[in-house]
Amino acid sequence: MPTSTAAKNQVQHNPYTGLPYTPRYHEFYKKRITLPVFEYRTDFMRLLALHQCIVLVGETGSGKTTQIPQWCVEYSRSMGLKAVACTQPRRVAAMSVAQRVSEEMDVALGQEVGYSIRFEDCSSANTVLKYMTDGMLLREGMSDPMLEAYQVILLDEAHERTLATDLLMGVLKEVVKQRPDLKLVIMSATLDAGKFQQYFDNAPLMNVPGRTHPVEIFYTPEPERDYLEAAIRTVIQIHMCEEVAGDLLLFLTGQEEIEEACKRIKREMDNLGPEVGELKCIPLYSTLPPNLQQRIFEPAPPTKPNGAIGRKVVVSTNIAETSLTIDGVVFVIDPGFAKQKVYNPRIRVESLLVSPISKASAQQRAGRAGRTRPGKCFRLYTERAYKNEMQDNTYPEILRSNLGSVVLQLKKLGIDDLVHFDFMDPPAPETLMRALELLNYLAALDDDGNLTDLGAVMAEFPLDPQLAKMLIASCNHNCSNEILSITAMLSVPQCFVRPNEAKKAADDSKMRFAHIDGDHLTLLNVYHAFKQNMEDPQWCYEHFVNYRSLKSGDNVRQQLSRIMDRFSLKRTSTDFTSKDYYINIRKALVNGFFMQVAHLERTGHYLTIKDNQVVQLHPSSCLDHKPEWVIYNEFVLTTKNYIRTVTDIKPDWLLKIAPQYYDLQNFPQCEAKRQLEGIQTRLDSKQYQEGF
Ligand code: CDP
Ligand code: MG
Repeated sequence: MPTSTAAKNQVQHNPYTGLPYTPRYHEFYKKRITLPVFEYRTDFMRLLALHQCIVLVGETGSGKTTQIPQWCVEYSRSMGLKAVACTQPRRVAAMSVAQRVSEEMDVALGQEVGYSIRFEDCSSANTVLKYMTDGMLLREGMSDPMLEAYQVILLDEAHERTLATDLLMGVLKEVVKQRPDLKLVIMSATLDAGKFQQYFDNAPLMNVPGRTHPVEIFYTPEPERDYLEAAIRTVIQIHMCEEVAGDLLLFLTGQEEIEEACKRIKREMDNLGPEVGELKCIPLYSTLPPNLQQRIFEPAPPTKPNGAIGRKVVVSTNIAETSLTIDGVVFVIDPGFAKQKVYNPRIRVESLLVSPISKASAQQRAGRAGRTRPGKCFRLYTERAYKNEMQDNTYPEILRSNLGSVVLQLKKLGIDDLVHFDFMDPPAPETLMRALELLNYLAALDDDGNLTDLGAVMAEFPLDPQLAKMLIASCNHNCSNEILSITAMLSVPQCFVRPNEAKKAADDSKMRFAHIDGDHLTLLNVYHAFKQNMEDPQWCYEHFVNYRSLKSGDNVRQQLSRIMDRFSLKRTSTDFTSKDYYINIRKALVNGFFMQVAHLERTGHYLTIKDNQVVQLHPSSCLDHKPEWVIYNEFVLTTKNYIRTVTDIKPDWLLKIAPQYYDLQNFPQCEAKRQLEGIQTRLDSKQYQEGF
């Protein structure tokens, strides 16, 4: 019929660019319609029109993150001009998925489809679909409490129960009441959706069954003593002995371990000679630059003429558990560990610890092997350990975190009554109390728990409250330029590189940046040297510092300085030749971190103030002596308690800068107290006239 021919010849146009769709669009489209969620499109659109909140459960890889937000964009277009937000717990996922979806929609990344993560906004006024970390959406709520910019908000990976997602659920539960036009979609990879449904007043559930293949599970007969060694051995064995093609996915806990594993796997493969199949090793962790993250989607190396199978092995943190799906994986190696946040309110220490994963995580990991064909999962622990020792689910992050930032943000969002806030899982009262106490000492909250003017400005900085306070206070110490640089350097991954094969040279190089008073000033030296050397990558390489870290530190610095300008916080420096140059900087540090101080006891070890934890200077510290009083940026729990990034300070600064915290009337008895009392007497005496 003539009409159908006409329809066939009619070229489809991209409504965003006005241009005909490129062949790439059609290619992606062919794949998209094969995804499990595709059959549910009509159902979903109907639910979305009828209900305000929907819970959607679908197995990892079924197309939730990439497809459903696109449908929501269509809905949103039919309703007006507002955008769609889709949150992700992880930066990597937000970036990588935005990239993919911009390709699927045939538009430029950063235009109609964009992403927003802390310190990086890749979106524009044209953006109709924005992937963002949950933390960023929470931040947007501070300036736009009703989230008026959005027609639909999707909270993805809700099963992960990150701190920010939990808070968003609580906040959005209120917002939807006041914005009947707003739609909320909660997406999760696990079947335990009842809790979400209940929380959102019996929201309807849409369940998309996956199409995964069976996965055979193997356990080790005995516990492994060295899981890294066992993991590498298992990778090589699978590659050499398994007869079917298929890629490998190995779960490890962090960047260092992952890079180490990749190196060792490559070395082992090199020793096996040219006859064996090629094994391409691809690391994946959150601080990896985007272009390297994309490598996980590269195809496996080809099979050799002698029949030896080529494979890729992705060595990943638990990003690959549910956030990113890598097609082609047939073998999963699961050592059973992940880095997890833990918080002890009693000693006010939050740290990342390598801990056993939950049964739910183990199941998710195993599931990754069944994407393309029946797969195998090698668990490097015993079946007994799985059954008897692993807990069913990981505790929500809100139960394992320091809530300082959270409480400040909630206060800024206008939520004053934290005790009655509708948390899905309420945090421990002691943890909340600790947060209120911290913010009160930092003067962000007054004694009645109300947000102060200072607190309101602190909340505007995407930083921990201590850092925000330090930055703001540095204006009074005439060193905000320097504190800006230090804050930026503390907000990016470690800048010193220490390759195994050149440890000595790296350490020597680091010592050339060292400042006698400590690590904060050493970071400042590195930043200054980087700028003086015109941000030269070759210079970085030669001096064992990470070019990317410094570059992003510089970028973070610019963003923070824009926020400072917005609040008329003056950017100043003390004259470099003045004897006060470094003293002012160290005093400014104390303004933020007076609660993170350690005192060197006569017995020769450090005790943290008030909490009385025995700690040691971290071996990475550049201090060549043991100052009597130090502030530290971080408490690191390993086999020993370490304090990392440490600077020498004077005790009289503590008394002057934080008299409320160092109120000696209410101070536990200890050696530090006796020292401070002596100093206090001196300060009080008439002879002490020097101004501060
Ligand atoms: O969110 P969910 O786990 O349900 O799936 P998804 O992330 O939407 O992925 C759907 C499909 O797109 C999977 O087969 C992925 O492998 C594929 N995908 C891809 O090839 N490249 C990306 N950057 C993202 C997804
Ligand atoms: Mg997803």
